[in-house]
Amino acid sequence: MRIGIIGTGNMAEALGGRWAAAGHHVLFGGRSAERARALADRTGRRAGTIREAAAYGDATLLALPYDAVAGVLTALGAADGALRGRLLVDCTNAVGPGFRLTTGAGPGAARTIADLTGARVVKAFNHLPDSVWRLDPPAFADGPVAVPLCGDDAGALETVGTLVRDLGCVPLPVGGLDRAAYLEATTAFLIGLWHTGHDPRTLLPPFEAVTA
Ligand SMILES: NC(=O)c1ccc[n+]([C@@H]2O[C@H](COP(=O)([O-])OP(=O)(O)OC[C@H]3O[C@@H](n4cnc5c(N)ncnc54)[C@H](OP(=O)(O)O)[C@@H]3O)[C@@H](O)[C@H]2O)c1
Repeated sequence: MRIGIIGTGNMAEALGGRWAAAGHHVLFGGRSAERARALADRTGRRAGTIREAAAYGDATLLALPYDAVAGVLTALGAADGALRGRLLVDCTNAVGPGFRLTTGAGPGAARTIADLTGARVVKAFNHLPDSVWRLDPPAFADGPVAVPLCGDDAGALETVGTLVRDLGCVPLPVGGLDRAAYLEATTAFLIGLWHTGHDPRTLLPPFEAVTA
């Protein structure tokens, strides 16, 4: 598969590096040509501009701070339909001070990106830190990590599901884009627990205890 990645930071390197190792063609596009080139050299893949990454291949990962996304997409012509129908993978976490969503009670990040672009947006990969995505594979005692996916387009979900499996993880479609805000809020909650020294696993009983 051909995957464009906008951004050259931690998530770009973690996911792009693993997809490159799995044999995918990856193009990293960043506002710094030097950082894009360095990342491409480390992963053995291509560097380009943000515009090239947005148009490259089958899917584009938005690996940007959420507060930078609207500006970047608008500069790409989102308002004029330049990204309509593209598959955009949204891994952003709009988490601000106090581990609160900066999107507040309004539409979530993925919904906002879809409304802005008309793209086929899939929310994915936001729920775990880049250190986990760098693992080969991301798996623990209970098995491979499950990756919740939210999206409205069946083909887009299938494509992102393939990318999940190619990391060694298990795709877990959890509903349409209207569910993405729940995933975003859950992740903000998890980040708050992790950063204050609490293990979220202690909140959860074994599956059998709640399904008996
Ligand atoms: N890191 C994690 O563990 C993790 C896990 C799940 C989700 N996420 C989410 O994934 C997204 C990326 O996180 P990250 O950790 O990869 O961030 P990062 O390491 O800080 O990288 C951010 C990238 O965005 C670029 N950028 C920032 N502002 C920009 C702008 N106005 N225009 C163009 N490019 C801009 C940066 O470019 P420069 O290098 O030029 O500054 C950099 O390439 C965030 O939304 C984050 O919440 C992160």
